Amino acid sequence: AQYKVGYIIGSLASASINRQLAKALVKLAPAELALHEIPIKDLPLYSYDHDANYPAVATAFKQAIADADALLFVTPEYNRSIPGGLKNAIDWGSRPWGKNSFTGKPSGVIGASVGAIGTALAQAHLRAVLNFCAAPQMAQPEAYIQFKKGLVAEDGSCTDAGTEEFLRNYMKAFAAFVAANKARG
Ligand code: FNR
Repeated sequence: AQYKVGYIIGSLASASINRQLAKALVKLAPAELALHEIPIKDLPLYSYDHDANYPAVATAFKQAIADADALLFVTPEYNRSIPGGLKNAIDWGSRPWGKNSFTGKPSGVIGASVGAIGTALAQAHLRAVLNFCAAPQMAQPEAYIQFKKGLVAEDGSCTDAGTEEFLRNYMKAFAAFVAANKARG
């Protein structure tokens, strides 16, 4: 693998369908991408009171972003936006002022929901946040996944051929996007 991709799951739920989707994406990613999770669940709630002395868990989170060549956000939609836990993590990563970890970090956005619009509004909000944080994002293809029970098997394999093909192509396009961004420097 040439590129280290840190994926961030927007859900904190143990049975998260977005965690299942991430598992499938790891399996379908082309060989040039090495995926690993950057966890967000242990981050406390952010306030700028911490800026002078970040807790170790937040320093580790920022270091993990710095060490990754690219980020892949796999998020649900909660109340037509991104979950609070994900926004909290991004706030941590964006600070202290002048030390925004997302600047220039190639990013992908994807998500699954049980609803038919498949996280479209959450992804639009996430893109607005990442725009402000100066993270270039893959524009196309977009991926709004409506998750049906059993879509991803225990071992991460996709049980629907059409979805599998779509996700494989998404990861292939993401690899090309990351390579192009890295080449630009
Ligand atoms: C939801 N859900 C949901 N779905 C959707 O398509 N649009 C939405 O705005 C919401 N809002 C929402 C709010 C809250 C607080 C919860 C808990 C759920 C349903 C959602 O798609 C479903 O619970 C998924 O399982 C969430 O993904 P994770 O957390 O399992 O990865």
